[in-house]
Amino acid sequence: MTDPIVVVGSANLDIVVPVPHHPARGETVLGGDHARIPGGKGANQAVAASRLGGSVAFIGRVGTDAAGEELRGSLVDSGVDCNGLFDTAAAPSGIALITVGADGDNAIVVSPGANHHLAPADVEDNAELKSASIVLLQLEVPMDTNIAAARHADGFVVLDPAPAPETGLPSELLREVDLLIPNETELAILTGRDVDSTNDDDLAAAARSLGVPYVIVTLGSRGALVVDATSARHVPAPPISAVDTTAAGDAFRAAVAVEIARGDAPSPSDTNSEVLHAAAGIAVRVGAATALRFGAQPSLPTAEEVDELLE
Ligand code: RIB
Repeated sequence: MTDPIVVVGSANLDIVVPVPHHPARGETVLGGDHARIPGGKGANQAVAASRLGGSVAFIGRVGTDAAGEELRGSLVDSGVDCNGLFDTAAAPSGIALITVGADGDNAIVVSPGANHHLAPADVEDNAELKSASIVLLQLEVPMDTNIAAARHADGFVVLDPAPAPETGLPSELLREVDLLIPNETELAILTGRDVDSTNDDDLAAAARSLGVPYVIVTLGSRGALVVDATSARHVPAPPISAVDTTAAGDAFRAAVAVEIARGDAPSPSDTNSEVLHAAAGIAVRVGAATALRFGAQPSLPTAEEVDELLE
């Protein structure tokens, strides 16, 4: 077990349809049989971190419906502490409509439902959040709640800025964040820059412009770039033939959190990001292994499964 990790975020029931290609505007595509799979960026990250050996608690909201029970069940079965997972009768559980293409890429529409009822009051008194070593946030719950959670937490705050708001991230949130982990598209949206994702200098300059002490930019099959104030180091990903990339990014972020929780979180004033570089080296493998199996939470591997899947 690691130092305590708290994930604040969404839980969605994913309705997944394999498709030969994603529908264009106005197009109808015939797909394969659908599957109902526990997902949601927050819940995926909590489950992934727990399967990788983290000591994890989850704070979120689900509806008082069958989907809510399924989502809670998946978290509990994966060893996640759900004392902070509330029910709400005001909205159905969140769902995500996902198409998965022949090369494993996906397109996702989220209906947040109960996730958007997670309020600042749900996090402001939470003792586990206050004392957690690592706090993992994403943007599928209201921005005010993320700001309240980041302010309340005394530990190292990691933000997955997905889905990325076109208006950028509020400074009240950015100033609380120790490590930001966007993908290259999110980095471009958040900075309003036309970032060349094959150019590490360009990526690093955009990452530094956000004013966060550490940024790890995920680059899909190219791996990741670990950026601090003075260095930018590229971490390659193992080559794979992806089956389904859903939740691969969540697994990456969870793996980084677990590796930080195993050691000492780097101080924001410490520009030696050795810990993060090592964490990213493990996380690219965890993300790649996740993309070799179908669905969100069923695909999230243990450390042993990562090695087996990538053999
Ligand atoms: O990151 C993948 C997740 O995004 C899916 O599980 C879906 O629920 C959406 O939140």
